[in-house]
Amino acid sequence: MSAKKDKLTKVLFVCLGNICRSPTAEGVFRDLLVRRGLADKILVDSAGTSGWHVGEAPDARSQQEALRRGVDLSEQRSRAVAPSDFERFDYIVAMDEDNLRELKKRCPKELQSRLYRCTEFAPGLGLRDVPDPYYGGADGFARVFEIIAESTRGLLATIEDDGNV
Ligand code: 4NP
Repeated sequence: MSAKKDKLTKVLFVCLGNICRSPTAEGVFRDLLVRRGLADKILVDSAGTSGWHVGEAPDARSQQEALRRGVDLSEQRSRAVAPSDFERFDYIVAMDEDNLRELKKRCPKELQSRLYRCTEFAPGLGLRDVPDPYYGGADGFARVFEIIAESTRGLLATIEDDGNV
């Protein structure tokens, strides 16, 4: 039994606006944790590399897609990534390469191993990015949900393999 198991493991999902992809990831991952009985072991949050939508609820299209699958995003509010997030969170999961690059610029060198790209936890999908759905149609939001559902299952398996739950 590792010492780490006594401590809450903290996961932060990051996209550009924190109104579409990362709130979906936060909601889907929390729902998975509840279903696995792990909600009190892993803390989940999300944030944006931009501050464009701070204080806003998730995009109505993301909320609708998630609710259709039984996941409620309505209580979430957008916030920007803060410098303290790099120390606070154990797994900082960027939705795409652009956001990962931005996080790498801001993250202290000694904490860079905490940075991940979401789809690296679902290698079978063969995708680099969770595509930005903001300027597209409803099918984009459905696709985002599916990519995130698969990736977050892989993320939980990684956290378990790492001995962090
Ligand atoms: P997100 O989507 O990064 O998944 O929250 C976006 C939300 C807003 C904008 C772009 C992407 N925007 O340009 O305002």
